[in-house]
Amino acid sequence: MNSIRLRTLPHFLLALFLSFAAFGEASAQTVGSAPAVSKEGVVPGATAAAAPAAAAGATTGDAAAIAAGDALFKGNCAQCHAVKEVVVGPALAGIAKRRPMSWIIPWVKNSSKVVASGDEYAVKIFNQYQKQQMPSFQLSDAEITSIVSYITAEEEKASPVGGDTKQVAGGEAAAGGDAAAAGTEAGAAKYVDLLLIILVVVLIVLVVTLVIIANIMKDVLRGRKDLDGRDVELLEQRFDWTQLYKSKLIRGLALGIFALVVLYESVQGVMAIGLSQGYQPTQPIAFSHKLHAGEHQINCAYCHTSVYKSKSANIPSANICMNCHSQIKTESPEIKKIYRAIQKNQPIQWVRIHNLPDLAYFNHSQHTQVGGIECQTCHGPIQNMDVVYQYSPLTMGWCINCHRETPLNTKGNAYYDNLVKLHDKENGAVPFTVSSNGGTECSKCHY
Ligand code: HEC
Ligand code: HEC
Ligand code: HEC
Ligand code: HEC
Ligand code: HEC
Ligand code: HEC
Repeated sequence: MNSIRLRTLPHFLLALFLSFAAFGEASAQTVGSAPAVSKEGVVPGATAAAAPAAAAGATTGDAAAIAAGDALFKGNCAQCHAVKEVVVGPALAGIAKRRPMSWIIPWVKNSSKVVASGDEYAVKIFNQYQKQQMPSFQLSDAEITSIVSYITAEEEKASPVGGDTKQVAGGEAAAGGDAAAAGTEAGAAKYVDLLLIILVVVLIVLVVTLVIIANIMKDVLRGRKDLDGRDVELLEQRFDWTQLYKSKLIRGLALGIFALVVLYESVQGVMAIGLSQGYQPTQPIAFSHKLHAGEHQINCAYCHTSVYKSKSANIPSANICMNCHSQIKTESPEIKKIYRAIQKNQPIQWVRIHNLPDLAYFNHSQHTQVGGIECQTCHGPIQNMDVVYQYSPLTMGWCINCHRETPLNTKGNAYYDNLVKLHDKENGAVPFTVSSNGGTECSKCHY
């Protein structure tokens, strides 16, 4: 018995080696097939090393600049950016190290110009964020620098221990993590899926290799003459499947796993109900916002006439199209569809894209007229869309996040004067946001 154990040692080592080789091969292949992850991890890392020099300039901001940056950030950037987490745009922590000020300033002033210039980093991040265009800001260089100072101060505040060394030394790792975290939830989910597939493949390869090795070892042993009775018994032992079936533990385990899978699937299903971010149906007429609102700069309210006045933004009737198309492009087959609709006295069957469930109350005029929010903040770069898609998730969390972060526009409205005074007395450091005014109370949005 002892001698057998000793002599099987080399086989065991061989088995171990083989399975590691198989493991290595499998993971090498799968990493190769996911270039998005590895490439993105490396590119920003390379630039991270060059940035700290510029960062020093940005971080020397004094308290006044940081305070100014705070206000500017909340007023202009907070709808889409947070310091530590991905909102609509990337988390801005570490931006001063990632990018020099000479890049950040033109980017904030006009990001699409930087993208159009072919700047490698800009193009990459633009694509990474599903080509969502960041709006242009008419801010001065000093104002943008103060925003960066504020971001730098914020990130240091929250991670006082060795935040710096981590970011410089781990530049590449941080950037890699960024790439993973940067995608939307869908991106993250895809990444997890990929990881699961890799794991399953590796496990299958391992099991198959082990079975093959066990069989080889058995064959080798069978050929030997010096085995005693017990060894032979051990060698020819068969696995008894019925025992497995009878085992309470195994049965319990199988039942548990089944229940978990069912639970997971149903939770996923429930969560997905009503979530249709990115929904982009084909419309009955190839109407392009890019052409009308973009190139020809027709005001949104020319067609969506009620958007500043009432709860709903209306979809224009065919008559509004005719204001122009009785003269313009009258021969186009797409325009003929408008004529046909009018002749038949039937409305054009536009497919509705945005649709909140009935239980929620949303009012356009409250946001566009009173709140002064741009259409693009919620609907994205409509003026660049040939076919409209749903840009924002339209979930309750999305509404509430914005209400928490957006300062209420109270200037020149005497109604708010006392409220703001009271608020500032109690917690002056926090701005008077929509939620300070009760904008996160259930009854504001639910009937
Ligand atoms: C309407 C949403 C939106 C607003 C508002 C916005 N951004 Fe952005 N920002 C984005 C998106 C999306 C990206 C990713 C790049 C892209 O898709 O163009 C981005 C990218 C950036 C980047 C590059 C980040 C990185 O990790 O390299 C910086 C810097 C930036 N924004 C700064 C600002 C500042 C400063 C403000 C406020 C003055 C601001 N942004 C306001 C959406 C926005
Ligand atoms: C010339 C008329 C016209 C102009 C100008 C126009 N739109 Fe539209 N819009 C339409 C029509 C027609 C539809 C329905 C077809 C479609 O979805 O493309 C529509 C659909 C939409 C939708 C989707 C509605 C839904 O079904 O949920 C949004 C959002 C929107 N427009 C926003 C805007 C914004 C923002 C602007 C200004 C930047 C604008 N529109 C300018 C005619 C116009
Ligand atoms: C304020 C004027 C104006 C209004 C209102 C308007 N359009 Fe247009 N539309 C234009 C112009 C300008 C063009 C570009 C013509 C060209 O390329 O020569 C155009 C082009 C088009 C085209 C492309 C035609 C082709 O074959 O190239 C379609 C389709 C279209 N419009 C549909 C609509 C619909 C549907 C509406 C109503 C919801 C509408 N338009 C309202 C001005 C208008
Ligand atoms: C604060 C976010 C927000 C802003 C700002 C905003 N919208 Fe909307 N929009 C929504 C939501 C949410 C819906 C879905 C409403 C629903 O289903 O009841 C919507 C729906 C629409 C629709 C479909 C018709 C309707 O009323 O349901 C159009 C068209 C539209 N918006 C146009 C615009 C235009 C044009 C502007 C700018 C003048 C604008 N929106 C500004 C959030 C916004
Ligand atoms: C981009 C930011 C933003 C988003 C997204 C947003 N809101 Fe608002 N909302 C505001 C602002 C700003 C005001 C305050 C307007 C004012 O009264 O000056 C407001 C006010 C309101 C009010 C009135 C609150 C009050 O105290 O009277 C309601 C109700 C409301 N929003 C509902 C919604 C719903 C529902 C959604 C999501 C479908 C939503 N909002 C998404 C910015 C936003
Ligand atoms: C700023 C607006 C807003 C406020 C405040 C708000 N909700 Fe909602 N709520 C929504 C919107 C929009 C939806 C629909 C979004 C969706 O279908 O994902 C929703 C959906 C829901 C749903 C349906 C479940 C679901 O996910 O579809 C429940 C339940 C709910 N809200 C409860 C509450 C309660 C309780 C509060 C107070 C603590 C509250 N809401 C405050 C906007 C709001």
